[in-house]
Amino acid sequence: MKVLISEEQLQARLDELAVEITRDYKDLCPVVVCVLKGAVIFMADLVRRLAFDLEMDFMAVSSYGSSTDSSGIVRILKDLDMDIKDRHVLIVEDIIDSGLTLKYLLKNLSSRNPASLEICTLLDKPERRKAPLPCRYTGFSIPNAFVVGYGLDHGEQGRNLTYIAELDEQDRVS
Ligand code: IMP
Ligand code: MG
Repeated sequence: MKVLISEEQLQARLDELAVEITRDYKDLCPVVVCVLKGAVIFMADLVRRLAFDLEMDFMAVSSYGSSTDSSGIVRILKDLDMDIKDRHVLIVEDIIDSGLTLKYLLKNLSSRNPASLEICTLLDKPERRKAPLPCRYTGFSIPNAFVVGYGLDHGEQGRNLTYIAELDEQDRVS
């Protein structure tokens, strides 16, 4: 396992993202939606940098397929508690890989008629994209590697690492 993005780099980039998000949302009382479970650490660190009124909600989705490949068929395991009609909604996601999960989420949430709907992702693997996706805020673009840490898991483990690490083949077999 090797460190791809250090804790210091993550925290510095979150400061920058928070400035951008504050500029865009400070008067809109947005609903910030965390996509469980991967985005939970990012979300928690991000919202504490946003010193304006906002509401938080959570959604859990699962995409069918193996743990490292998304199929595009998405099931909602936990839906939002809030009604987002006429609200400004910011989706917070851990990583965009194929883009299929978010493509589904965007379609599903936009059918509820929010005032606006945007995505903030910590990580993006642009090489893997299967569907074009409008992403408003991106923390880091990374190469096509499987990563863990800072919320992201491999077989549910590694979420509690304070940095992002790249798994090598050897780690992936288990
Ligand atoms: P997509 O539908 O292919 O964009 O899949 C996105 C989801 O797959 C993310 O929300 C993650 O849960 C998971 N995922 C994709 N790449 C990685 C990775 O490198 N490490 C951990 N999880 C990943
Ligand atoms: Mg995820």
